[in-house]
Amino acid sequence: MPTSPRFDVLIIGSGAAGLSLALQLPNSLQIAVLSKSQLGSGSTSWAQGGMAAVLHDRDSVEAHVTDTLDAGAGLCHEPAVRFTVGRSRQSVDWLVSQGIAFDLREDQPDLEFREFHLTMEGGHSHRRVIHAADQTGLAISEVLANRAEQAPNITLLTDLCLVDVIKSGGRVCGAHLLNTQDRRVETLSANALVLATGGASKAYRYTTNPDGASGDGIAVAWRAGCRVANLEFNQFHPTCLYHPKTRSFLVTEALRGEGATLHLEDGERFMPHFDPRAELAPRDIVARAIDHEMKRLGADCVYLDISHRPASFIRRHFPQAYERCLALGIDMTTERVPVVPAAHYTCGGVVVNQHGATDVPGLYVVGESACTGLHGANRMASNSLLECFVYAQSAAEHIATSLSRSSSRSSASATATPTVWDDSRVRDSDEKVVIQHNWQELRRLMWDYVGIVRTSRRLEYAAARIALLEQEVSRYYGRFQITRPLLEMRNLTQVSQLMVSCASGRKESRGLHFNSDYPDALPDALDSVLIPPNFDPTLALDGPVDQLPEYP
Ligand code: FUM
Repeated sequence: MPTSPRFDVLIIGSGAAGLSLALQLPNSLQIAVLSKSQLGSGSTSWAQGGMAAVLHDRDSVEAHVTDTLDAGAGLCHEPAVRFTVGRSRQSVDWLVSQGIAFDLREDQPDLEFREFHLTMEGGHSHRRVIHAADQTGLAISEVLANRAEQAPNITLLTDLCLVDVIKSGGRVCGAHLLNTQDRRVETLSANALVLATGGASKAYRYTTNPDGASGDGIAVAWRAGCRVANLEFNQFHPTCLYHPKTRSFLVTEALRGEGATLHLEDGERFMPHFDPRAELAPRDIVARAIDHEMKRLGADCVYLDISHRPASFIRRHFPQAYERCLALGIDMTTERVPVVPAAHYTCGGVVVNQHGATDVPGLYVVGESACTGLHGANRMASNSLLECFVYAQSAAEHIATSLSRSSSRSSASATATPTVWDDSRVRDSDEKVVIQHNWQELRRLMWDYVGIVRTSRRLEYAAARIALLEQEVSRYYGRFQITRPLLEMRNLTQVSQLMVSCASGRKESRGLHFNSDYPDALPDALDSVLIPPNFDPTLALDGPVDQLPEYP
């Protein structure tokens, strides 16, 4: 049997979570960080607003915790929130030590140490979003990728699409990966494997996410035997640019933080009718209000207006949004910007503990694919980059400790050899267009039936139609050479099924899940935890199987 390349730690995904985890592992470990296309092509580089952190004297951990709990609509796990927010300053310090140049206040030109410029976003009671103009994710990605490229113990591999993880004796020992350049399936061995693959918003027809957001980590972890939770809470960002010549361009919430208001076609400002915080209410409230107004009036979009702020201020703080709109003929310094809600963030995911560990020993999940308990039923803006860095650090510590323990015991897992991929019985597909049509059908039906407002009947339709798609994709998977579109379709179909299953089980409305047959919240907030058929309770995380793990 041919030997497979062996690493101590295999990290799937090269965004904020994957790269920061790699950089915080001991440099005595051999680490591979894998991207499914080019480095920096995931969601992190697209993140505009910034990262929430308690940095100002007048702000406090307590206030950030309270805001997060409030936005999460009763479903956040307070220990997870305290764990994350309490480490926010430490995460900022680490990022600054890596060389990230966050924006500084412009009104302190003479000070030797200027304070960070903190912006505001929905749900926050203080200015606490640290940022690099409106391209925070790109600034972070570039610096971390550069650092990883220079690290002698980190190997960066591109164009590798995860097929599945491989287990031996219940523990992860490697992964199969499709090399999308030569179309061969490679087998890599590892003592620990981290899924940092982002979310599943590509399940929806309209999204702010890049093409790769196909829920790979969630689907792969589920198939490996991990529980998933709270997948009904897919966040719709209120303001995606609406223009026939563009798709997926987010118009950052920081604009509303700096005073932008939302209007109907006739100029009426509508958010004050829905919430006293108006445009700065949490995202679920703003997106639902826009959806309501668009449906009521049969309108194609609503309008975001920041033209009352000085043009120089807009250009300095929002250069990307300004340029992108201008290229489409919209000058946001003088005109309003047409916007619509679009799928943006998967708040649920794979059940993990405070170290990012899952129910399968050796398998970790960090970032948007994970469900830590921080976001509850609705993520507060800019808490996601924070979550990436906090959990990447604690996962790195846990992996380092457990690998040093297992190497001193020279456990079986350290020497297990994964099975090599066998594609001798499959052939080339001559019907690639079928996959393309399945994609379109899935994304349309998720948008129509599992969108901002749901009903029980629509969820039933969605479940029945996704089951048919799933059968078709499984037949393809068993018969034909795998390709990236097929793998992504397989994952997205699986995650969509899990989303619908969570949504159908929730007989109430809460946060991002609104079912008009059950418009009220029930008195007791419970997580939707799904248990996979191959779940092994003897190896799983401690605690009751229908709940997220308790933090010590
Ligand atoms: O609007 C934004 O810039 C998005 C921020 C976030 O999703 O946290």
